Amino acid sequence: MNSNKFSVSDSELDPAKLPAHVAIIMDGNGRWAKKRLFNRIIGHEKGVETVRTIIRACHDTGIPNLTLYAFSTENWQRPKYEVNALMILLSKFLKNDRQEMKDKSIRFNAIGQLDRLPKKVRHDIEQTKSFTRDGDAMQLNLALSYGGRSEIVDMVKAISKKVLDGQLDPETISDSLVSQHLYTARLPDPDLLIRTSGEMRISNFLLWQIAYSEIYITDTLWPDFKRDEFIYILKQFEGRNRRFGKVAET
Ligand code: IPE
Ligand code: IPE
Ligand code: MG
Repeated sequence: MNSNKFSVSDSELDPAKLPAHVAIIMDGNGRWAKKRLFNRIIGHEKGVETVRTIIRACHDTGIPNLTLYAFSTENWQRPKYEVNALMILLSKFLKNDRQEMKDKSIRFNAIGQLDRLPKKVRHDIEQTKSFTRDGDAMQLNLALSYGGRSEIVDMVKAISKKVLDGQLDPETISDSLVSQHLYTARLPDPDLLIRTSGEMRISNFLLWQIAYSEIYITDTLWPDFKRDEFIYILKQFEGRNRRFGKVAET
C-alpha cells in the first residue's frame, strides 16, 4: 500500500468541523485472515488492535462520541467457536483497556441486547462502565448484540407502555421522544458513518440515527485500517456539503 496515500496530519483538521459522533461498522476481519490463510479468529485479534488505534485517534482529535459496531444480533448465527472467541476477546479488551480509558477520561458504554451476552461479559461491561463513569473527554459506545430493528422494537414497547399507563399522550410522540427511547438516548446522531472492507450496506446498524449521517465506505479491511486513513476520512468529512434537504449555502 502507498504509505503517502492518506497523508493528512492532525493539525490540518479544523476543530470546528469535527464530527460530534462517529459510528463505525468494523468489517473485514475474516477476509483479512483468509488472505493470509489464517483462522478467522486471528483476524478478530488483529481487529482489536485497530479498535485501540481508533479510540486513541478519536480521543486525540477531540471527537466526543464514538460508536463501534462489534457484534450484531445477526452475528449470533455464526459458528459457536467463533462467537465464543469473540466473547473472550471482548472480555479481554474490557479488562486490559479500562485503565487506559479511565486515564484518558473516556466513559465506556455498551448498547444492544446485552441480556443475551454471557454472564462473564455482562460483568466485565458493568465493571468497565462503573470504572470509567466519570470520564468526560469522550464516550465510547460498543454496539454488542446490537440490531437497529430490535432497538426500534424496544423503543415501541417502552413508548406503548407509557401510553397504556396514561403517562404519555400519543399526540405528543415526536422525533425527539423516539430518540430518547433508543439505546443511544443521550447521544447526538452520528455525523459520520464509516464502514470498512467495501460492503455497501448498513447491516442493521443505527437505522433511526443515521438518517442524515455522512457515509464513508473504504475498501480497507478493518485490521489494516490505520490512524492515517481515519484522519484522512475526517478531512474528507470536513469538505462534505451537508444540506439536510435545504438549498446549498454559497
Ligand atoms: C467484522 O469482521 C467483525 C464482526 C462482524 C464480529 P467479519 O468477521 O465480518 O469479517 P468478514 O466480513 O468475514 O471479512
Ligand atoms: C456487520 O458486519 C456487523 C458488525 C460489524 C459487527 P457483518 O460482517 O456481520 O455484516 P454482513 O453479514 O456482511 O452484512
Ligand atoms: Mg463481515
